[in-house]
Amino acid sequence: MRTTRKVSVWPVGLVGGRRYERPIVENGKVVGWYTGWRADRPFAIDMAGFAVSLQVILSHPKAVFKRRGSQPGMQESDFLKQITTVEELEPKANNCTKVLISTVTKKLLYCLCRLPSAVLTEMFFYRFLYGTHEQKK
Ligand SMILES: *[C@@H]1O[C@H](CO)[C@@H](O)[C@H](O)[C@H]1NC(C)=O
Repeated sequence: MRTTRKVSVWPVGLVGGRRYERPIVENGKVVGWYTGWRADRPFAIDMAGFAVSLQVILSHPKAVFKRRGSQPGMQESDFLKQITTVEELEPKANNCTKVLISTVTKKLLYCLCRLPSAVLTEMFFYRFLYGTHEQKK
């Protein structure tokens, strides 16, 4: 997490009706998604399963994580495709083989998302995400 250069990803427990979801990694690169739901999404990942460096946020001032206006379950994809590509993703948690976080953390994130959306809120959101994971180490 702390070593995220741009956008990093990892498995999430108890999500999408499965025990876990995870990016499928081959040769250190994300090549697909193990998920119980719509694996055809460009980024089939839960919002608890990725981190974005603050530099990336700052260099994409127009990128937004929409609370409304995305199809259900497409928020993550709609956001991530504004700032990165699947090829660029950095797999964490031992090439995405370890489940270190679950939807308990996700619930906290949902609470935060109910805050009014504004660029500053989004920046705070990512800062929070970093903090959460650092505490877990
Ligand atoms: C992840 O996979 C790549 C390529 O197979 C390998 O070089 C790297 O050491 C692996 N990383 C970890 C933390 O296992």
